[in-house]
Amino acid sequence: MAFRADERDLIAADIGAYLERQKAKELLRFITCGSVDDGKSTLIGRLLHDSKQIFEDQMAALESDSRRVGTQGSNIDFALLVDGLTAEREQGITIDVAYRFFATDKRKFIVADTPGHEQYTRNMVTGASTAELAVLLVDARKGVLEQTRRHSILAQMVGIRRFVLAINKMDLVDHDADLFAAIVADYRAFADRIGIDQWIAIPVSGLNGDNIAARSEAMDWYDGPTLVEHLETVPIDSESDEAKPFRMPVQWVSRPDPSFRGFAGQVASGRIAPGDEVRILPSGRTSTVARIVTMGGDLDEAVAGQSVTLTLEDEVDCSRGDVIAAASQAPHAADQFEATIVWMADEEMVPGKGYWLKLGTQSATATVAHPKYQLNVNTLDELAAKTLDLNAIGVADLTVDRPIVFEPYRDQHDGGPNRALGGFILIDKLTNATVAAGMLHFALRRAENIHWQALDVSRETHARLKGQKPAVLWFTGLSGAGKSTIANLVEKKLVALGRHTFLLDGDNVRHGLNKDLGFTEADRIENIRRVGEVAKLMADAGLIVLTAFISPFRAEREMVRRMLPDGEFIEVFVDTPLADAEARDVKGLYAKARAGELPNFTGIDSPYEPPEQPELWIDTVKMTAEQAADAVIDLIERRR
Ligand code: ADX
Repeated sequence: MAFRADERDLIAADIGAYLERQKAKELLRFITCGSVDDGKSTLIGRLLHDSKQIFEDQMAALESDSRRVGTQGSNIDFALLVDGLTAEREQGITIDVAYRFFATDKRKFIVADTPGHEQYTRNMVTGASTAELAVLLVDARKGVLEQTRRHSILAQMVGIRRFVLAINKMDLVDHDADLFAAIVADYRAFADRIGIDQWIAIPVSGLNGDNIAARSEAMDWYDGPTLVEHLETVPIDSESDEAKPFRMPVQWVSRPDPSFRGFAGQVASGRIAPGDEVRILPSGRTSTVARIVTMGGDLDEAVAGQSVTLTLEDEVDCSRGDVIAAASQAPHAADQFEATIVWMADEEMVPGKGYWLKLGTQSATATVAHPKYQLNVNTLDELAAKTLDLNAIGVADLTVDRPIVFEPYRDQHDGGPNRALGGFILIDKLTNATVAAGMLHFALRRAENIHWQALDVSRETHARLKGQKPAVLWFTGLSGAGKSTIANLVEKKLVALGRHTFLLDGDNVRHGLNKDLGFTEADRIENIRRVGEVAKLMADAGLIVLTAFISPFRAEREMVRRMLPDGEFIEVFVDTPLADAEARDVKGLYAKARAGELPNFTGIDSPYEPPEQPELWIDTVKMTAEQAADAVIDLIERRR
């Protein structure tokens, strides 16, 4: 629907005033689950209509014009309305979730409406991830279906604890009380099994409006609340968020002038007042809140959901991504977790690959291990799985490259989900697309539990005995670039100098340790991970290790670099243009790859990411292998 400018202004002014009135009311976010066949659109239409809705398209018109017509006062509500969407838009993922806003005298509502087909798991998870309640639509003629169970499980997984079983189309079954009771009994058996205990069933007719906003005369046997009555009175989780310990992830540090330094963010849980002691994580420093600053002036107290700027009594280090928490009940930081992961991308998950993990305002590089299992969302069976593909839900261990402050997504004390510090997304580093959403279960103390054997003979002893400084000379470059040739020469020269060395070469390691690996992205990542671990052990033994692997991905080379003490990883980029490597084609592999007989060949149909800052860059067009080897020797002998 298109509006003329004057109409739009009128509508905007109207809605602006309307929203002003709504502002004071509580907000309930819920999701509707079911398909068009179940009468979902009709039901939502009813809800909006019977509760004197604002038409969606008016909202849309207002959204784009609100600034121009000056309804600034209402912007908070609009933000609420669209915030679920902007996050996704920024991440470049198409998710089919429509958010609708409506209100009654008692409450305002945001309803997330998602398509009901199985392939839309990601839509449903996205819509549910900000909701507190799920309305499960059941066609009275069909009863509880597989889809009803799947939606219950998915909703429960993202932390929804309250459910409404809206048994619809009662008009088509003669408003039969017994049938209603039978469906309720059926769902109860299922709900008991998966631990859904806060639910209610309501017999409705979306078409006639029975038991939606008005009581049904045709179903006088039903004495429970109407759908609207229930939505108006059901407890809201944000109230329980306030009862939890204080946490505020820092969004940004506000420094308008040298005299003011404030930490801005949204209070995720609990309450905070000036004078309260807080702890900054992950550093663990403590301080005291001095002021709570907002646009409208200082506050005596802030609670969960409010966006504020805190100033502290002390000059403590605190930046974006840190978490300010109640000093006596602070969360922990960890770098290994078990998590539930919902895969949302067309390309399957690559175990071992580095993804960007975003958890609230924190980010880190994360690698996911092979799934422990994949969940069959209909039966709850745990199936063996090598990876996760589109819409799959699985449980896997996850490792991040720096400690992150977290809380288990599912609250042990049943206070509602810890979304702010327990829910995360994974982003592909190259395409920048969101590929997964997940929920942290708990931190793995594995690294701590497998105690390092306290070795009496230390790596220093090993190195001292050999009279050398250990190092890993990591040669990287295209196939046929000359890595092995140069590495070979370097090793001979080092041995001639009396150094203790060992050369790990791609072609050789792939005949033994890594003979189970091929050339897919996942296998190459695993190849490099293992080689990195072996190289590290050899460096611990005091050796100068030389490795010659294509090692095409920057992230894995960086991973090996981080495994070693500073300065021990020496990246040598053997830079040969593809055309030259292909022209030489010593092993005849490029010809095969061009002929389509060798898939995933680096440089042809599999990428090579050149190092950005190698310790040594060898231009094989300008240098002979002999000169290159001397350059390496020069570099390594200089650091003795
Ligand atoms: S890496 O990408 O996983 O680091 P690696 O260095 O171990 O590769 O092995 C590369 C060698 O395997 C090449 O020099 C070549 O001899 C051989 N090879 C066989 N298939 C491929 C392929 N698809 N891509 C690249 N190299 C291949």
